[in-house]
Amino acid sequence: MSPWPWLKALHLIFMVSWFAGLFYLPRLFVHHAMSTDEPVLDEKFKVMERKLYYFVTPWMIFTVVFGTWMLIAGAWAAYSSMMWLHIKLLLVAVLVGYHFWCGKLVKDFRDGKNTHSHTWYRYFNEFPLLLLVAIVWLAVFKPF
Ligand code: HEM
Repeated sequence: MSPWPWLKALHLIFMVSWFAGLFYLPRLFVHHAMSTDEPVLDEKFKVMERKLYYFVTPWMIFTVVFGTWMLIAGAWAAYSSMMWLHIKLLLVAVLVGYHFWCGKLVKDFRDGKNTHSHTWYRYFNEFPLLLLVAIVWLAVFKPF
């Protein structure tokens, strides 16, 4: 039996798990930014952010591993001449950058060095949604 459906299923399962973290972590930042002057809450948010960040990082790695595995298993040969794949990979690189930026923000909060308002985090929180829509559209419709 071809491993292809397994690779794709695992790719998608890890992608969804990764996004659960990418949606929830910046929500924590929104509420944390509103409560840094309340020491007990401040400490609670620090613990939640650190645990969530380190919990979802492996899901990012596995998404990339299974996506790359599919490229090696034939997708690169099939699609490397099509633009959608190159744009998708570029947007995934931006998403990985967003993930590490979240890691930096977790450390800034931990060290009491957050400089952004809760309103800024509300906008920041929308960014992964835009990337999700664009990447899934490219991967599913393969428009060009
Ligand atoms: C380096 C990271 C990634 C690589 C190398 C990669 C690569 C691939 C490959 C080769 C396929 C199979 C394409 C096909 O035959 O239809 C695929 C499917 C898919 N990928 Fe990724 N991917 C990556 C990250 C992502 C991310 C971050 C998302 C979502 C935001 C995503 C969403 C999808 C979806 C929805 C499909 C299924 C498309 C379909 O079957 O119609 N991928 N990916």
